[in-house]
Amino acid sequence: MAEFSLPSNSKVKKGTTYPAAEGAKRVKTFKIYRYDPDTGDNPRMDSYEIDLDSCGPMVLDSLMKIKNEVDSTLTFRRSCREGICGSCAMNIDGTNTLACLKPIEDVDGEVHIYPLPHRPVVKDLVPDVTQLYAQLASVEPWLKSKTPPPPDSERLQSPEERAKIDGLWECVLCFCCSTSCPSYWWNGDRYLGPAILLQAYRWIADSRDEMTGERLDELEDPFRLYRCHTIMNCTKTCPKGLNPAKAISEIKKLMVERR
Ligand code: SF4
Ligand code: SF4
Ligand code: FES
Repeated sequence: MAEFSLPSNSKVKKGTTYPAAEGAKRVKTFKIYRYDPDTGDNPRMDSYEIDLDSCGPMVLDSLMKIKNEVDSTLTFRRSCREGICGSCAMNIDGTNTLACLKPIEDVDGEVHIYPLPHRPVVKDLVPDVTQLYAQLASVEPWLKSKTPPPPDSERLQSPEERAKIDGLWECVLCFCCSTSCPSYWWNGDRYLGPAILLQAYRWIADSRDEMTGERLDELEDPFRLYRCHTIMNCTKTCPKGLNPAKAISEIKKLMVERR
């Protein structure tokens, strides 16, 4: 990435530079967005010079090193450090991704790190995802059936039926996709966005779920579903290699087929 400088009218201020330890040989600079609601000050970009010889390979490793050894006030979410919990989602080098899956060596020059875009910031790299979880709850993401389960077995699926939810169940709800979607930026209060629509389709596509009609009724709305204009940012950015745009188009196809 080219050398980055803030525009002169930016409300984001230059912050503190934390130099590398003496004798460091392989130094990389991490420029990180900082915002503290307790001070109310405008956001700033702090620079941390890190010796890669004493740091793990992923961007999350650099954040942990900064927090543990340089600046304990740096705030971010993380848990599993292996792409499963979805909590370390942030914007790295201009792309929404999971910090634990992003190799530092994939970024040329300085590493610029921001919270996921177009969400209120709780602190530093922590976005407020309350709206996204409320929207997730609205699609009732669990198996719903009208008939009781067989008395002597689980609800079974054929291998072909099971294969229909591949590419859907793997979603870790990181919201990299929804926060990269221009339609969600402008209409996120009414448009469900790619992450939630992929979750909705995960249950529509599940042969054991018996509420497909009701689920489609809930989505039949000019905003909730049809604000997707197939811009494909969602699919391009998904760190798990999923295709939310395809899931959305499958829902739209079902809407047409049932008319
Ligand atoms: S394909 Fe649809 S959901 Fe994905 S980024 Fe584009 S508008 Fe958003
Ligand atoms: S579809 Fe991909 S980017 Fe979107 S929430 Fe799921 S894992 Fe994250
Ligand atoms: S820490 Fe869990 S996905 Fe990155």
